[in-house]
Amino acid sequence: MIAVAIDGPAGAGKSTIAKKAAEELGFIYVDTGAIYRATALACIENHVSLEETAAVEALLPQLDIRIIFFNGEQHILLNDKDVSEAIRTENVSMAASRVSAIPAVRKFLLALQRDFAQNADVIMDGRDIGTVVLPNAQVKIFLTASPEVRAKRRVLQLREKGEPADFDKILFDIVQRDYNDTNRKTAPLKAAETAITVDTSDMTLDEVVHTIVGIIKEQGL
Ligand code: DC
Repeated sequence: MIAVAIDGPAGAGKSTIAKKAAEELGFIYVDTGAIYRATALACIENHVSLEETAAVEALLPQLDIRIIFFNGEQHILLNDKDVSEAIRTENVSMAASRVSAIPAVRKFLLALQRDFAQNADVIMDGRDIGTVVLPNAQVKIFLTASPEVRAKRRVLQLREKGEPADFDKILFDIVQRDYNDTNRKTAPLKAAETAITVDTSDMTLDEVVHTIVGIIKEQGL
């Protein structure tokens, strides 16, 4: 099996790019952020405070989180309910960043992620895929962009959906999430030793996809 790990900060374009590269290569694309988001959503819905690590941990055995593929699209099921849309709010984004700092949560979600790479060629994106989840991945990429560029892209995305978007607030949230994800003790966001860093600040989407597919093909995969 071939595994490609793509890590990087929030809003670097990992999911859009990984999805397109996977399509080109005929690999399965797995967005691991979605399962942290589903865990965060479960905490919110069950009124479990993210400050109370023990309460979050106690909730975990009640959660059945599944990734399924429907018409080639990844869907997330939380206790049999499709929460693919519900996990995409700014509120859940921030909660996911906080819940993902809890070691028990990371442990709980690890096997789910590894199982995918056992049975299919995958491109998996997240924060710790190259360092922790799939340390033996044949290709490791660290995808990044400046916080300002990432905030601008997010604003455009929200406006396209007709949703309100305040640049300053979004930039603030991005910087905050970067800080949380990079500074947590367990599996922090960082480039794996052998990762190739791609800074997408001045690249178009197509250029990034072309670069990533090129890196993967260069490995003879
Ligand atoms: O990629 P995303 O924005 O959907 O991820 C949401 C949060 O989940 C992110 O702030 C950090 C966390 N996450 C993680 O800790 N490890 C991963 N492999 C993926 C996401």
